Amino acid sequence: MTGAPDRPQITVLDAGGQYCHLIARKVREAGVYAEVRPSDTPAAALAGRRGLIISGGPSSVYEPGSPSVDPRIFELGIPVLGICYGHQLMAHLLGGVVQRGDKGEYGLAILEQKDAGRLLDGLPERHQVWMSHRDTVTALPPGFRLLAATSVCPIAAMGELSRNFFGVQFHPEVVHTVHGRQILDNFLFAICGCRRDWDVRGRVPELEARIRTTAGDRKVFFFVSGGVDSAVAFTLCLRALGAERVTGFYVDTGFMREGETEFVRELFERLAPGAVRIVEAAPRFLSALAGVCDPERKRRIIGDEFIHIQQEILEGGRFLEGRWMLGQGTIYPDTIESGGSGQAAVIKTHHNRAPGVQRLLEAGLVIEPLSSFYKDEVRAIGRELGLPEELLERHPFPGPGLAIRCLCAEAESAMERRPEGWLAPLRSVGVQGDARSYRAVLVLAERPAPELETRAADLVNRIPGINRVVARVAGHAPLERLRVRPATLTEERLARLRRADAEVRAISHRSGFDRRVWQFPVVLIPLGERERPDSVVLRPVDSVDGMTARAVLMDRPLLDEMAAALLAVEGISAVFYDLTHKPPATIEWE
Ligand code: XMP
Repeated sequence: MTGAPDRPQITVLDAGGQYCHLIARKVREAGVYAEVRPSDTPAAALAGRRGLIISGGPSSVYEPGSPSVDPRIFELGIPVLGICYGHQLMAHLLGGVVQRGDKGEYGLAILEQKDAGRLLDGLPERHQVWMSHRDTVTALPPGFRLLAATSVCPIAAMGELSRNFFGVQFHPEVVHTVHGRQILDNFLFAICGCRRDWDVRGRVPELEARIRTTAGDRKVFFFVSGGVDSAVAFTLCLRALGAERVTGFYVDTGFMREGETEFVRELFERLAPGAVRIVEAAPRFLSALAGVCDPERKRRIIGDEFIHIQQEILEGGRFLEGRWMLGQGTIYPDTIESGGSGQAAVIKTHHNRAPGVQRLLEAGLVIEPLSSFYKDEVRAIGRELGLPEELLERHPFPGPGLAIRCLCAEAESAMERRPEGWLAPLRSVGVQGDARSYRAVLVLAERPAPELETRAADLVNRIPGINRVVARVAGHAPLERLRVRPATLTEERLARLRRADAEVRAISHRSGFDRRVWQFPVVLIPLGERERPDSVVLRPVDSVDGMTARAVLMDRPLLDEMAAALLAVEGISAVFYDLTHKPPATIEWE
């Protein structure tokens, strides 16, 4: 059951780029149904498409084993657009030359148009594009002409107009490419001749009808999390099948935010009284985690415990006997291997692969009404269902919840004075090179400010052994009095973090700041004095998909208001502000 037109007009071939889903979303936004497939999908499976787009990717076309496409796609007689790596791959496969650039080109660039070549029709001669590459196409394949260049990139756009093959080194799908929408529209409508066949609005009756067909006379049960996807999928099933045929379980791990369980209870009580059962599991999770400091072990234990509970519910409720189906809020990016963060993938795989769930999958007893939709489309469906904005506009929240935002430490240790600031012997997770790092934090005594952001980026590169830089916002004691304190996950510390998070959320919501950021983790770190053993780190970030992120600063009055509220929370010694982008840091601290 997919809820999609029978055949996509556009297939995005995924060469491993973090923006491949963004491309498909942008195509759908134009009203054209698009799917994502692995880059090496055989050409025969793509016949009948109106156009193909080869996505960007992290590799180099000359690396052994780098992603490629079936060369026969160029014989299908359909237009092809290569983006970034896709542009280089086209050049490479069709007889051009790709070389390693002397220096990379990352960020904004000015595109100088040489020849509109249909792809760039209607655009100014010079306009801003967003680039992220090192390799460069240095010679056009036979038959291609040069469409545009930048000061660093001699062949930034190319086209073979008789066969409708186009390549662009820049990313038309990101907002920083100011005419990106127009370029994609030129490709979709003028070049591929696509029709508008995709509109997520008004689809609720059809989705409900499909649920009824798939379920037949069976009942459906769900694990709801309080997140958008499972709530929308659950609500669709409730409406399609009626409350007597739909049951939900909400596992309270004890790592939820303040008011979260009540919110979920009230939300579903209003929709269908008694349809969702709350499973109180906080003590189980806490005792499984007693004394554990290592973040990866914490994650593993939480994942395993969740699976045990799921399995117990599956067996105890006799859900495995065939009269029931398992409903899941799986959305389109979850159904494909790529997408989401590494950690997110691990956690989700855990849940999807629980033995009971696996058996249901194999028996065709899983119903996923949102499996062909993107997050923003799911929100639009949720809006049509009348679900509250508070639910629909929620920031992403990791499965293991506050447990990963509550840092632990094994031993007491002092901060180390350095010329640049203070080195806190408290490790957190980052991503440097392509690998996970687990390193210390540099604390600057100054308050957060734009010039500190630049300094922070430089310091992370210069000082070995760190992956983050934070600025001190306010505190009960000067930095030199703070020490890292031995700490594990306890009810007391979780309550402290929950309170701090609630204070920040309330202020951030009231001021509208939450709508300016993609996500705003509030982190508890075991750095403080004896009576006030913990501190809080504010981590607002801007991001597209969580894969990369920028730290976002806030106005001083707002920050002062937050700091004052946080310093009034029991046990909190100081407030810090994370200045680090991802990479080298990650969004979450852990
Ligand atoms: P990081 O910390 O790796 O996070 O920069 C990237 C994005 O993924 C979210 N995240 C998770 N989401 N289960 C999830 O569903 C998880 O275990 C998980 N861990 C991190 C994180 O909140 C951010 O949006």
